[in-house]
Amino acid sequence: MLQFELLATEGLARRGRLTLNHGVVQTPIFMPVGTYGTVKGVTPRSLEEMGAQIILGNTFHLWMRPGLDVLQQFGGLHRFEQWNKPILTDSGGFQVWSLGEMRRISEEGVKFASPVNGDRLFLTPEISMQIQRILNSDIVMQFDECTPYETKGHRTTEAEARFSMELSRRWALRCQAEFQRLENPNALFGIVQGGMFEHLRQESLEALVEMDFPGYAIGGVSVGEPKEDMLRIMAHTPQRLPAHKPRYLMGVGTPEDLVEGVAQGVDLFDCVMPTRNARNGHLFTRFGDLKIRNARHRGDERPLDETCGCYTCRGVTNADGTVSGGFSRAYLHHLERCGEMLAPMLASIHNLHFYLDTMRQIREALDAGRFTAWAQAFREDRRRGV
Ligand code: GUN
Ligand code: ZN
Repeated sequence: MLQFELLATEGLARRGRLTLNHGVVQTPIFMPVGTYGTVKGVTPRSLEEMGAQIILGNTFHLWMRPGLDVLQQFGGLHRFEQWNKPILTDSGGFQVWSLGEMRRISEEGVKFASPVNGDRLFLTPEISMQIQRILNSDIVMQFDECTPYETKGHRTTEAEARFSMELSRRWALRCQAEFQRLENPNALFGIVQGGMFEHLRQESLEALVEMDFPGYAIGGVSVGEPKEDMLRIMAHTPQRLPAHKPRYLMGVGTPEDLVEGVAQGVDLFDCVMPTRNARNGHLFTRFGDLKIRNARHRGDERPLDETCGCYTCRGVTNADGTVSGGFSRAYLHHLERCGEMLAPMLASIHNLHFYLDTMRQIREALDAGRFTAWAQAFREDRRRGV
């Protein structure tokens, strides 16, 4: 089950509404990453408060731990992690790829040693579909091979990128057949590959469009390539995908990348950046980024971002009118310096809120037909600095 309606467009940018089995998602949207069935350090309640509409999970990690028996027992990932809105799961293709030398790829699938206990494991398109059926994710990703930017120390050649793209294309067919055989009531997305070569991306997307998936992802970006290559692929692929179907740019990126992605016609984004950077004391704000460990914050009474409405910056108003939360830079600096657990928690809330609120502002601007002007002001504010 998947419905997608386009509500407005401005240039290539799109404002849409995506209906999935566990609810409605307003697009463009950012999806917080919850690899192991948790967005690290953030409760589902807090995610809802900051306006998260859909989160990610990971086939590969959840297969390792807690294992399929437990997930089956709970009837899927939603009840297990207590998140009752939509979930998208990645197929394991990218995570197996990240294992590097630990894996062996063949036509049939990928053999690798479990990073948890060293067991010999085999992941195939069919097994990925079987796992994602058990997870009952609203959006299932095809099992693919993420073409790296560099192969064995040299820039991936056209021949290597073609081989990889064609393998992903054959795996897409097997995923689709298995997804149908399992009578999965959710939606399966195909993933465009082709490395840094536009003509290979074109071939990939044409083959996938022929297969008529309910949505399409753009994979193989943010894999170590220079920014200009990423921008070149972003300017090529999204606009060539079917207009009436959702488009997902995988693993991207900085706040500026999201704005550029929307301008190029992307509807869905995910990235570990807001949560991972939060854990390293890297905070995103409307007026540029800041490192909370820096000594200059030691006595600073201001919030991270005066314009931010998150629990960390602004707090919440209680029923009796008093405010809880709303912390100074000085306090966040102190928590970080002491290695307190609350430091990454408050930082994750703020960074995710910033990403989600940026997307909310984008949707509002698209509704009002002033996205281009909004994007200009956003870029200028971000350059201004904190
Ligand atoms: N996450 C980021 N890039 C990719 C990709 O190319 N494939 C998959 N499956 N996941 C990704
Ligand atoms: Zn904030």
